[in-house]
Amino acid sequence: MSSKNLTFHLAERPTGNIVPGRTFKLVETDAPTADKLKDGEILVEVIYLSLDPALRIWLHDFRSYIPALKIDEKIRGSAITRVLASKSPKAKQGDLVFAHSGWTEYAIVDENNFFPIDLPQGAQLTDFLGAIGVTGLTAYFGLEKVGNPQPGETVVVSGAAGATGIIVGQIAKIRGSRVIGIAGSDEKCDILTKELGFNVALNYKKASFREEFERATPGLVDLYWDNVGGEILELALERAAKRARFVMCGGTSEYNSLGGEAKPGVRNLLQVVINRIRMEGFIAFDYVDEYPQARVELGKWLAEGKIKRKETILKGGLKVAETGIGDLFAGKNVGKMIVEVKPLE
Ligand SMILES: NC(=O)c1ccc[n+]([C@@H]2O[C@H](COP(=O)([O-])OP(=O)(O)OC[C@H]3O[C@@H](n4cnc5c(N)ncnc54)[C@H](OP(=O)(O)O)[C@@H]3O)[C@@H](O)[C@H]2O)c1
Repeated sequence: MSSKNLTFHLAERPTGNIVPGRTFKLVETDAPTADKLKDGEILVEVIYLSLDPALRIWLHDFRSYIPALKIDEKIRGSAITRVLASKSPKAKQGDLVFAHSGWTEYAIVDENNFFPIDLPQGAQLTDFLGAIGVTGLTAYFGLEKVGNPQPGETVVVSGAAGATGIIVGQIAKIRGSRVIGIAGSDEKCDILTKELGFNVALNYKKASFREEFERATPGLVDLYWDNVGGEILELALERAAKRARFVMCGGTSEYNSLGGEAKPGVRNLLQVVINRIRMEGFIAFDYVDEYPQARVELGKWLAEGKIKRKETILKGGLKVAETGIGDLFAGKNVGKMIVEVKPLE
């Protein structure tokens, strides 16, 4: 273990994109030590750090589902970590645990903020951040509790080649639906159709996108999964079938406007009335008590090959998290974006 610890803190609230070297500051301190542990706490080193677009929401001070980060506060994030010392019966030295460690190399974490990693058959370690982690669970509960895809229905998924989207599309296929994925490059579209079993994939950056969307939805859209908001949501509203369900999971295209001058709105909302659309948001954390059962089912699908994982692992230590989060908004990831803070020995 190093005697020094690097940690990212919030330096200023962004009004647009997160700017490396400005939005966050990298602070070096002495690393925490085992003699500082109180009962119930563990000392961990961070191995794999999850990068999540929702972080951009937490940088903005408004009424949200969790409090905004304060200036100078450690950047919030979850990770697969290794226990270096423990005063908790829930974990012992050497265990790998999932922890809300934040963007840091070493952390002391209390029992409310770490969970043992119980990998179901079929899963690998990094899946605990992806296919069976929060993004996989988001896909699972958003479909199980809100969307309820049916055999033969047309399901459209935006942000389809991202961590949540790839699992949404694959579960909808398991449920027998016809699945259309929307992503930001032809390469991503190929992965969706050739590797992950999507029926159709459309590149929203192509000039012909609107026309292709219309052609791909002759019977209109029964279920739309929204990861991105913006113009893709507006188009999905135009193509919604009567009594369509819209699962409102996120709005990545709008996050970087938070705190800025532009106030994105949604056109075509009248379609909600005309077509009796049910548009429902949800937060995965609401189903935390049901995570273990969901992980077993997701693990089973992984083992059976019905769900395939995709992940983009950035190497180079904690420092790359700062540019990595911007890469997520630039669409440089396929599947779950993870920073390898320390190689697993
Ligand atoms: N409700 C919940 O409980 C919950 C939980 C977890 C995540 N979420 C939300 O789910 C969404 C997906 O999260 P994730 O972690 O799986 O991230 P992700 O999809 O792996 O990564 C973000 C993706 O967004 C796409 N994107 C970026 N800017 C865009 C734009 N302007 N228009 C369209 N697409 C854009 C990029 O792909 P392209 O190359 O295709 O542009 C990028 O790969 C986010 O909105 C997140 O906040 C919600």
